[in-house]
Amino acid sequence: MQIILGITGGIAAYKSADLARLLANQGHRVRCILTEAGARFITPLTLSSLTGEPCYGANPDQGEWRANPSIEHIELARWAELVAVVPATANIIGKAANGLASDLLSTVLLATRAPVLWAPAMNTGMWEHPAVQANLARLRSFGHAVVEPGEGVLACGEEGSGKLAEVAAIAEAILLHGTPKSRSLTGRRVLITSGPTREDLDPVRTLTNRSTGAMGIELARAFRDAGAQVQLVLGGDLPAPWGVETTRVRSAQEMLAACEARWGAVDGLVGAAAVADQRPEAYAAEKVKKGDGPETMVLVRTPDILATLSGTKRPGQWILGFAAESEDHLAHAAAKLQKKGLDAVLVNDIQGGRAFGAQANTLTPVTAQGPQAPIGPLPKDDLARAVVQWWGHRLEARESGL
Ligand SMILES: Cc1cc2nc3c(=O)[nH]c(=O)nc-3n(C[C@H](O)[C@H](O)[C@H](O)COP(=O)(O)O)c2cc1C
Repeated sequence: MQIILGITGGIAAYKSADLARLLANQGHRVRCILTEAGARFITPLTLSSLTGEPCYGANPDQGEWRANPSIEHIELARWAELVAVVPATANIIGKAANGLASDLLSTVLLATRAPVLWAPAMNTGMWEHPAVQANLARLRSFGHAVVEPGEGVLACGEEGSGKLAEVAAIAEAILLHGTPKSRSLTGRRVLITSGPTREDLDPVRTLTNRSTGAMGIELARAFRDAGAQVQLVLGGDLPAPWGVETTRVRSAQEMLAACEARWGAVDGLVGAAAVADQRPEAYAAEKVKKGDGPETMVLVRTPDILATLSGTKRPGQWILGFAAESEDHLAHAAAKLQKKGLDAVLVNDIQGGRAFGAQANTLTPVTAQGPQAPIGPLPKDDLARAVVQWWGHRLEARESGL
């Protein structure tokens, strides 16, 4: 994405360097515009070195806004696929809300047709002032996104709200706000399961598997970015993604209960979790001591989450399943599709240890029409976006009766 990062005059301006670097490392092109006050907190050299792109100053005699000052603001406004103002002062928020264009950043903000995102940072008194809140409400009414500041000890020594949101959360919000939305997924409610389940034997031992939950988390992000309202039921220890309602679970039984509680109110389910097929028959409340002779553990079947939910599917509701197979993967996927009444199964060929924790991966969708073109090999984040795009197109075709 081509991003204009506007940096205004607050102490938190130093954090925008981290944000610029993070976005550039993610492969985005980032051009910074400093306001005059912003340039008192951070230098253009820092920003242009981190991004490898020019950094623009407030006025034609500053930064790189020299070549053709009369049209540069229009060119920048057109170049931008998203404009983010981080940190945003009360001053720039007030100017943009009222259509003022007194320097390069405020002019670009007025001229651009790209999505705009604000990450305000200011003293609590300023943040809570009705004038600032009214200005933000006006910006929201233009379709702009606001990443709300958090609470904490502020640079002025006061404690309260007004602290710039975390840089990682702002980066996620930028991606979310800048990604084109899918027609068939916008506003749809999608339930996603991810991660391993853990079936406890006693307070210290557990039966689990090698899934990390990374793929389901990337799918949650990709559905979120496509415009869906995502609920994630997550096993394992990976951090939950931003902007997704996450419920943590441990066992297959807990995962089923969390899904059943949500199933009636969602449009579709993505079953990406690696659910244990068996659990120990009995749970010992105290740690089991080692015995002398051979030991056996009796296992019983856990509930089949996809099959259970599929059994109560409403017309129009859809289910995507995942399968990890080490042999004859397409045939197994086709059997799973039929047996569990799924709309598609995305199958991983895990021969040679691929898939679990691997960097790049390939998924082959299998539908009632048979195996489709494989998606990948791609890193998990790109793969998740490609899967969502593929499914979005299929839903569109289905809804238009094709
Ligand atoms: C040390 C210092 C810190 C400041 N921090 C903030 C801040 O965090 N948020 C804010 O809205 N204004 C802050 N200000 C005030 C702005 O710098 C001032 O309103 C300026 O005119 C903003 O201009 P700009 O929006 O064009 O960058 C600070 C001022 C100083 C001197």
